[in-house]
Amino acid sequence: MHLKTLVAATAVQLAAAQELMRFGCSQLVFDRIDPLVNPGFLPSPHLHQVIGGNSFNASMTHGALDPPTASTCTSCTYSEDFSNYWTANIYFKARNGTYKRVPQFANLGLKVQGGMTVYYIRGYTSAAKVTAFKPGFRMLVGDPANKDVKKVPSGNCYRCESNMQQSPFGGAPCTGSDTKVFPKGQCNGGWRVTVTFPTCWDGKNLDSPDHKAHMAYPASGTFESGGACPSSHPIKMPQVMYEIMFDTRAFNNKADWPADGSQPFYWSQGDGVGTGIHGDYLFGWKGDALQKAMDTKCANDNCKALQRQTDAKAIACTKGQTAREDIGTDTWLTELPGASQMQM
Ligand SMILES: *[C@@H]1O[C@H](CO)[C@@H](O)[C@H](O)[C@H]1NC(C)=O
Ligand SMILES: *[C@@H]1O[C@H](CO)[C@@H](O)[C@H](O)[C@H]1NC(C)=O
Repeated sequence: MHLKTLVAATAVQLAAAQELMRFGCSQLVFDRIDPLVNPGFLPSPHLHQVIGGNSFNASMTHGALDPPTASTCTSCTYSEDFSNYWTANIYFKARNGTYKRVPQFANLGLKVQGGMTVYYIRGYTSAAKVTAFKPGFRMLVGDPANKDVKKVPSGNCYRCESNMQQSPFGGAPCTGSDTKVFPKGQCNGGWRVTVTFPTCWDGKNLDSPDHKAHMAYPASGTFESGGACPSSHPIKMPQVMYEIMFDTRAFNNKADWPADGSQPFYWSQGDGVGTGIHGDYLFGWKGDALQKAMDTKCANDNCKALQRQTDAKAIACTKGQTAREDIGTDTWLTELPGASQMQM
């Protein structure tokens, strides 16, 4: 199928049930810092890949740092979005025990560099108001140390793409043959990794000690089916979803894979199964831009209510590594970055 037709078909399929904004953000930095889980730690225990506003730093506490004010650029194509979005990285472990970072690429129809596709989903076509996040809001989904496949949060999964055109399209995220663990075989179109956050807010706390308790899932049904929020967390927020495309094609040589038939990929925190999938979100939209986008039912990356910068400008917004170290982009590493500090 022609690329344009495929993207249109995908959008139509999703739009049938969901109203969504989908846009690309280029890579801002790869760094071993985590202002949410390990504020002030330099370096933090494992490596992240980060996109968004360039005010991202190891100790960006709310009140001390306001991303739209402190940033001078954003790697997202919507130029009023200085939020930060981050996940762990994927590594390939060769038979000789060395690791190389699996590169990321832009999703279909987007022209950013590496990075992620970010979604803000209003939900089921309905009149229900969606409330934008407030300045200082942050949240975490998933658990880097999780080893239980049943505890992988809903909407978090892997898709083994058979070609770079993602054809045939495998349906909505985390349906069909998508898995909660790393794909077992070679994927000729790389992996699409989906990270989805819960959508019901307690209406009071911008964060919580585990960075999760201030958010919840619908009391019955799902966000996708229009399920209502529980009374403890009554405010319906947009569903934030990341898609990260990992180009695993350079690692498809069976001779490099473990002789015992196990799969050779690892999250940067040392998880070789995939159940430690997790993502971090730190809100940083300027003024009421995100609320306007929700209220006017913005779609994709060309919303009239928002300012869009060129792809080239988004790509130009990068940041130097704070924790200076070799992260295995061009060289084979004898251990994962920070392995000596890891608990797993
Ligand atoms: C990081 O942000 C804090 C405010 O939270 C600021 O005080 C500090 O100077 C920043 N550090 C760097 C390296 O920019
Ligand atoms: C380890 O294996 C990789 C992949 O086959 C290879 O490129 C690299 O040179 C090897 N490193 C050593 C030290 O043998």
